Amino acid sequence: RRLVILISGRGSNMQAIVDTVRAQSLPLEVCAVISNKADAAGLAWAREQGLDARLVAHRDYATRAEFDQALARQIDGYQPDYILMAGFMRVLTTEFVERYSGRLLNIHPSLLPAFPGLHTHQQALAMGVQWHGCTVHFVTPVLDHGPIVAQGAMPVLAGDTPDTLAARLLELEHEVYSLVVRWLAEGRVELDAAGQRAIVRGV
Ligand code: GRF
Repeated sequence: RRLVILISGRGSNMQAIVDTVRAQSLPLEVCAVISNKADAAGLAWAREQGLDARLVAHRDYATRAEFDQALARQIDGYQPDYILMAGFMRVLTTEFVERYSGRLLNIHPSLLPAFPGLHTHQQALAMGVQWHGCTVHFVTPVLDHGPIVAQGAMPVLAGDTPDTLAARLLELEHEVYSLVVRWLAEGRVELDAAGQRAIVRGV
């Protein structure tokens, strides 16, 4: 199976995915890492790893639709089975999302449906939740919504700040996304017929 990974910055989730595919010799090929930002550290890392590292800079396009169309052209060139958003900080158009329905996944740093949007760690602390976590989900036109594939949860500790939460959660994100990638390699993840629920066979 073929993967394309979309990033916007550091790319640590992308790195965790690449490392997992290699360490476990999964029947997956990371065909490309594509960033919307030229200065994404993850692009340099991917290039050093010999991966196809591509830039589709959103600033080069006049409209969101034109950017999404250019991104789709790049993606389609690789004929991926799955497109994994990993720290990809762009809201995508409905057309783009529907084009890749059932193949487009994202990781969000909260236990959805709690805390969609940005600054999830601040939101969690403000609400005084005792558990925080991350969610890997199929992407739908509704932002940070969509059928949930996997979640990881961790306790919020006394004295936690947004930064300490984010750092601890990032490790859990890497674990959860790597688990999902293993399931994808085994062909065990799909959307139900109605497109409402993710089905993971065998777990
Ligand atoms: C992660 O916390 C991810 O959930 C969020 O932004 C961060 C990206 O980290 N979307 P990285 O680029 O994968 O290191």
